Amino acid sequence: EQGQSLKGKKVVVTAGGTVERLDPVRYLTNDSSGKMGYAIAEAAASRGANVTLIAARTTAEAIGGVKLVKVESAEQMLQAVLEHYDDADLVVKAAAVADYRPVAAADKKIKKSDERLVLELVRTTDILQTIGQRKRGQFLVGFAAETDQVEHYAMDKLHRKHCDLIIANNVAEAGAGFNFDTNIVSVYGVEGLVESLPLMQKRQVADRLLEIIIQRMQAREAG
Ligand code: PMT
Repeated sequence: EQGQSLKGKKVVVTAGGTVERLDPVRYLTNDSSGKMGYAIAEAAASRGANVTLIAARTTAEAIGGVKLVKVESAEQMLQAVLEHYDDADLVVKAAAVADYRPVAAADKKIKKSDERLVLELVRTTDILQTIGQRKRGQFLVGFAAETDQVEHYAMDKLHRKHCDLIIANNVAEAGAGFNFDTNIVSVYGVEGLVESLPLMQKRQVADRLLEIIIQRMQAREAG
């Protein structure tokens, strides 16, 4: 219905797990399947949004009506997000971005020896924090994958990364978080806990999240 439309809005969604190369055939990654981000992209498109989906490694099914930008590393995801950021109305960061990457990717396959192999890792740029610092009217939604003290860490991320909402999933719960078709999330805003959702299909989670997001975007537009 009209009240829940995203017509004319540009929505950027990130999904999947970034891939940080050690050499041409080996990499560090995580368990993100991309399903949560894809579900949000699909739900936004069905509400008439112009959706750009920036996806790292994923097993999620391709969706129609969405502009797909494939990336590999955290650095590539950062560049792609920045390219689509300025005129975005809503950005949802469901991707699991590596916090560390190898200092350098070897351009040839690393050969084994009898010695121990020590990998040196450096921090990646925090994409959400970077775009949070340059916010100019975009509605910014981050995710938080936590196993304990969910509210504490969610609120810390909300403030530190200048988000309008943080969607926390307790990845220690069965059926929540990485790779499942379902999720259990709690939504946090500047005022604290907004809503806790029960176990639901990720597509249903996406629909409820968009209802909350659209309501807040409209309230802001109305001043
Ligand atoms: O992909 P699925 O299998 O469907 O699983 C969904 C999910 C569990 C991956 C998803 O719901 C989720 O929680 N995504 C965020 C996971 C995560 O990386 O959380 P975090 O607490 O490490 O990061 C917090 C936020 O900062 C996230 O929005 C993340 O995208 C962002 N971030 C983190 C690091 C970094 N270098 N740049 C970032 O932008």
